Amino acid sequence: MKKTNDLLSCLIFIFSALYVAAANNVTYDSRSLIINGQRKLLISAAIHYPRSVPAMWPGLVQTAKEGGVDVIETYVFWNGHETAPGQFYFGGRYDLVKFVKIVQEAKMYLILRIGPFVAAEWNYGGVPVWLHYVNGTVFRTDNEPFKHYMQNFMTYIVNMMKKEKFFASQGGPIILSQVENEYGFYEGAYGDAGKAYASWAANMAVSQNTGVPWIMCQQWDTPKYVINTCNSFYCDDFKPSYPDMPKIWTENWPGWFKTFGSRDPHRPAEDVAFSVARFFQKGGSLHNYYMYHGGTNFGRTSGGPFITTSYDYDAPVDEYGLPRLPKWGHLKELHKAIKLCENALLNNVPTTLSLGPLQEVDIYGNGSENCAAFIANMDDKDDKIVIFHNQSFHLPAWSVSILPDCKNVVFNSAKVGSQSSVVEMVTAELKSSGTSPDKDVKVSKWEVFVERAGIWGDADFTHKGFVDHINTTKDTTDYLWYTTSLNVDENEDILKNGSKARLLIESKGHALHAFVNEVLHGSAAGNGTVSPFKTQIPISLKAGKNEIALLCMTVGLSNAGAFYEWVGAGLTSVKIEGLKKGKLDLSNSTWTYKVGVQGEHLGLYKADGLNHVNWKSTLEAPKNQPLTWYKAILDSPPGNEPVGLDMVHMGKGLAWLNGEEIGRYWPRKSSKKEECVDKCDYRGKFSPNKCSTGCGEPTQRWYHVPRSWFKPSGNILVIFEEKGGDPSQIRFATRIFSSICAHLSENHPTFEIESAPKDKDANHKTKSTVQLKCPPSTRISSLKFASFGTPAGTCGSFTMGNCHDPNTTSLVEQVCLNKFRCSIELSDKNFNKDLCPGVTKSLAVEAVCS
Ligand SMILES: *[C@@H]1O[C@H](CO)[C@@H](O)[C@H](O)[C@H]1NC(C)=O
Ligand SMILES: *[C@@H]1O[C@H](CO)[C@@H](O)[C@H](O)[C@H]1NC(C)=O
Ligand SMILES: *[C@@H]1O[C@H](CO)[C@@H](O)[C@H](O)[C@H]1NC(C)=O
Ligand SMILES: *[C@@H]1O[C@H](CO)[C@@H](O)[C@H](O)[C@H]1NC(C)=O
Ligand SMILES: *[C@@H]1O[C@H](CO)[C@@H](O)[C@H](O)[C@H]1NC(C)=O
Ligand SMILES: *[C@@H]1O[C@H](CO)[C@@H](O)[C@H](O)[C@H]1NC(C)=O
Ligand SMILES: *[C@@H]1O[C@H](CO)[C@@H](O)[C@H](O)[C@H]1NC(C)=O
Ligand SMILES: *[C@@H]1O[C@H](CO)[C@@H](O)[C@H](O)[C@H]1NC(C)=O
Ligand SMILES: *[C@@H]1O[C@H](CO)[C@@H](O)[C@H](O)[C@H]1NC(C)=O
Repeated sequence: MKKTNDLLSCLIFIFSALYVAAANNVTYDSRSLIINGQRKLLISAAIHYPRSVPAMWPGLVQTAKEGGVDVIETYVFWNGHETAPGQFYFGGRYDLVKFVKIVQEAKMYLILRIGPFVAAEWNYGGVPVWLHYVNGTVFRTDNEPFKHYMQNFMTYIVNMMKKEKFFASQGGPIILSQVENEYGFYEGAYGDAGKAYASWAANMAVSQNTGVPWIMCQQWDTPKYVINTCNSFYCDDFKPSYPDMPKIWTENWPGWFKTFGSRDPHRPAEDVAFSVARFFQKGGSLHNYYMYHGGTNFGRTSGGPFITTSYDYDAPVDEYGLPRLPKWGHLKELHKAIKLCENALLNNVPTTLSLGPLQEVDIYGNGSENCAAFIANMDDKDDKIVIFHNQSFHLPAWSVSILPDCKNVVFNSAKVGSQSSVVEMVTAELKSSGTSPDKDVKVSKWEVFVERAGIWGDADFTHKGFVDHINTTKDTTDYLWYTTSLNVDENEDILKNGSKARLLIESKGHALHAFVNEVLHGSAAGNGTVSPFKTQIPISLKAGKNEIALLCMTVGLSNAGAFYEWVGAGLTSVKIEGLKKGKLDLSNSTWTYKVGVQGEHLGLYKADGLNHVNWKSTLEAPKNQPLTWYKAILDSPPGNEPVGLDMVHMGKGLAWLNGEEIGRYWPRKSSKKEECVDKCDYRGKFSPNKCSTGCGEPTQRWYHVPRSWFKPSGNILVIFEEKGGDPSQIRFATRIFSSICAHLSENHPTFEIESAPKDKDANHKTKSTVQLKCPPSTRISSLKFASFGTPAGTCGSFTMGNCHDPNTTSLVEQVCLNKFRCSIELSDKNFNKDLCPGVTKSLAVEAVCS
């Protein structure tokens, strides 16, 4: 027995080794990619490795796989990797090889969008800032230094992938690579040089001989051997540049990014599903969610200006790595429905029939063997009943129904039957390491280091007039001090009766704090765009010499646009109003400069650099104190749930845990005047402002601190507060599902949760089954709501309708209590279907898992 087993495992080993090593031949035709001679319909999910941490990667990839995803897609982040010319870094969050291996081990494909310009709301679009200072460099055009460093990096990455045998041609997971990124939008701005550059980039990429095809997105003039692809909210009308190329959608945005001071955008699951279903209805073959997991712009990696530290994106998997429900589940069901159609879609030329002014069906195949149909209602207001194959179908407005056998609807994009949830950030108990056990949420002991306002140490240089901020810091820090002084005659009126002078400031951005004689008098910032801003700040002056110290800062460098690297930042004009002589222009005064703040220079944020300075220990940390560093030594928050740092009572600054960069925090509020919605109408074309929430609220309150950064105790939390806040209100919170819910109508077709995608179970057409599944290692511990009848509302706020089966709760309890997962069919056996005759009934359940 033992021997046979050994032999067997030996054989299995050999076969799997062969399997891994076997080259995959990736080609394409007008219909799809062809992998080893087989056409493929592929669902792809963007997960950017540096926007999470290695400890999260396997879970994220598994959540994608469980969500019906075949391919992981990522950019490569040049400025994270080539930190100085020829100096490369692939550790920690930048361990690209480790990330690809995790995808490979999950038996998924990978699309590697090398760029290396990527935009991506990433600092400087991913291009290293040092390259801007290589003499004569202009980014993204026919420019020798840029092309030299771009080719160099591209070759470095391709060789690294080849060495690991990561290209499909070598048996690895990479099936496509991308060069450049959305250049088509800007090519014209660079004239003939732009065209030459695009063509050079394509040829340079192809000459890398990866053995897999190259793509360029939003690039309408690719050569015949590079596939151009679509990025948009909808790509059903997209046509590749050449007839022998498949229709590929590299970026479907299932949400949108946030900027500090703006609202919280959401894209409804129904509309995302509609766009994807339409794409496959109209011959699409490879679809990628940008983002599937958005994650976090740790440290100063966010692009800008003003992109938030959170890059949640309202993606199917949230910033913290939890499935966003019902979006994740609804798309999982969509993917299953599409996969049931794969064979028919790939092997038939569709027939399109009009079923009404805004209704159409695309039929792939005939009869019912190997036949699939997609029926769309593009009407953005009204539901429609259409007749197809002598059968009538009810189609909600702005929806697609999928019929994998041309007869039965298994999925409609507007009917969301999958699980939903209430997710909350729950304040966690906190213990200062080394103190006696307490059940408090507040940090009980802080150490404090306060910086002086203005030049610390020796000045870096003086200059008559203003220097450009970015040219000066070269983005080694956000901060640049601009200081000057001003003599005020003792006869000036503004000194006599307490009246104030005013600082009139114009700046290219991005934000600033104005100190006069070391006292903070005001702060200002741009409006979330690269536009310059103006501000007026009342100031108190004294007789004699007054020190004006302006702490200016960048909040993420521009990441896209023609010539974006030349935008610049910093002060352009400073005047004082209120003196007898009239406006005093200080713009041409002699200014003294200092790059960065002192704590950065001292390395106060480093886990090991903390003891070089005299931190002051205090039980009551000072409030509203600008330019202050706070440090606390803490135990890890209890539990395994993801952790967020609540910074809503702080001003603006940076945070670290154990020397790892959490990122910029800034509870900047969005304007109340902007439009927000209580309930989003999914119908009609989506745009980023359509379904926003959070008007008048801080754009970002919680900052993700990955669990893997914590030790059980002795964690060092460091905060640099620029303008003043209340550190006694800093909290850790854990992200938990406080409820899970399902709400399903009796005529809603459903899939069994675990049925294989290829399994054409004839029953899925008639069964309506409510399914609930708890987060890992929890069980349903109680029911908050259960009603079969006409319940209304959403998860967390269901209400009973006029029609209600009083037996619902006992039935659901019987089936679900103490279960990790349960399903209840809306059958006669389970429910009294005679209840309220003639009314379509539904079952709504809200449960608690613990
Ligand atoms: C790859 O497949 C294409 C057709 O799909 C074929 O023409 C080509 O010879 C194959 N290449 C290799 C290396 O097998
Ligand atoms: C770049 O050019 C300037 C002026 O032309 C020169 O002073 C400087 O040394 C050059 N820098 C490098 C790195 O070549
Ligand atoms: C179905 O399609 C096949 C090939 O595509 C064709 O030979 C056959 O005649 C078609 N049958 C009907 C009923 O249209
Ligand atoms: C629809 O019904 C008509 C009349 O009953 C019949 O002739 C026709 O074949 C049917 N069409 C389909 C697609 O079943
Ligand atoms: C301050 O005094 C000056 C003249 O002495 C007067 O013009 C001005 O209005 C006063 N301002 C206030 C706020 O009282
Ligand atoms: C930002 O400010 C600029 C200049 O004042 C203005 O043109 C632009 O419309 C503003 N943008 C937003 C989003 O408010
Ligand atoms: C930055 O400095 C370069 C010269 O090194 C200059 O060409 C460029 O205009 C400066 N940028 C800004 C925004 O001032
Ligand atoms: C500042 O100096 C520049 C260059 O010397 C000059 O063009 C500008 O007019 C001056 N501005 C003021 C307000 O004096
Ligand atoms: C509830 O269950 C009881 C016993 O199973 C049954 O007699 C009764 O009719 C049910 N009530 C409704 C409204 O279905």
